[in-house]
Amino acid sequence: MTILLSGSTSGIGWETLKTLYDQADQWILPLRNLKKAESLFQELPDQDRLKLYPMDLSSIKQTHQVAEQIKVNHPNIDVLINNAGGMFPGGKKTQEGLDMTFAVNHLGPFTLTKQLLPCLSKENSKVIYVSSEAHRIPGLDLNDLLLENYTSTITAYGAVKLFNILTSKYLKDIGYQTYSLHPGAVKTAFGAETDPISKAIIRATQLFFISPRKGAETTIFLTKTPIKNLDSGAYYVRKKVKKPSKLAQSKSLSTKLWNQSEEALKNLGL
Ligand SMILES: NC(=O)c1ccc[n+]([C@@H]2O[C@H](COP(=O)([O-])OP(=O)(O)OC[C@H]3O[C@@H](n4cnc5c(N)ncnc54)[C@H](OP(=O)(O)O)[C@@H]3O)[C@@H](O)[C@H]2O)c1
Repeated sequence: MTILLSGSTSGIGWETLKTLYDQADQWILPLRNLKKAESLFQELPDQDRLKLYPMDLSSIKQTHQVAEQIKVNHPNIDVLINNAGGMFPGGKKTQEGLDMTFAVNHLGPFTLTKQLLPCLSKENSKVIYVSSEAHRIPGLDLNDLLLENYTSTITAYGAVKLFNILTSKYLKDIGYQTYSLHPGAVKTAFGAETDPISKAIIRATQLFFISPRKGAETTIFLTKTPIKNLDSGAYYVRKKVKKPSKLAQSKSLSTKLWNQSEEALKNLGL
């Protein structure tokens, strides 16, 4: 089995990699910090299984380029896990002029997944999105799906986690096997790069959060469970289907988001 996992160098992703390690004979790991990965992965046996690709999701052009390399090197992918993500200060822009939270959590994973669709079997491959209950945070501006004018850290994060579910829904509607999930409130490095107030709130509440091992359980469940026993397009919490917000179920919004995301790639010359 070949698994692509983003965000394998910390928290939920690292636990996912360690726990599922023996399930795959090839691990495709796009990651932004090669040194950190090489040092962390030293404890893993049989390193030939690991295929590391330096890739920063905040750069859409680089993500596109790396996805093209992966497509050539790995024409068959069984499971694509979009796990990498995070919360960044409201209004912070990438070098390409995009909202940072939008780029890392939505447009980067969108680019990676879209470019790799030819490597996925509609019947037998899975696409998994690590979303969040934060997708229910109100305040989405339906006229600004690219988050060009967002200044609130928390509203932007809520929007992109909603976009994870909507993208999964779109992929289901075009025939793929795809799932989104909430991992729980998990004690990880999450929030390390956000604004000081949000960071302080996260660190204070983290005392009550679950372990990364526990937080990885639904991702592991969705990866291991046979497709026939899963519900494509569904949102999972604690390994069970849960109804997401009303907006997350909107077909017109998922189509609008997909089309505008494609448009955003075109505007970057991709
Ligand atoms: N923790 C929670 O309570 C919680 C709750 C709901 C949903 N989630 C979601 O769970 C996922 C995993 O988060 P986590 O809690 O495990 O946090 P984490 O410990 O901070 O791990 C995040 C991972 O994403 C990677 N990443 C961040 N920015 C990136 C970029 N620009 N390019 C490439 N990779 C990047 C990080 O790389 P580095 O190792 O280089 O930093 C790290 O491997 C995220 O999508 C998050 O939104 C978390």
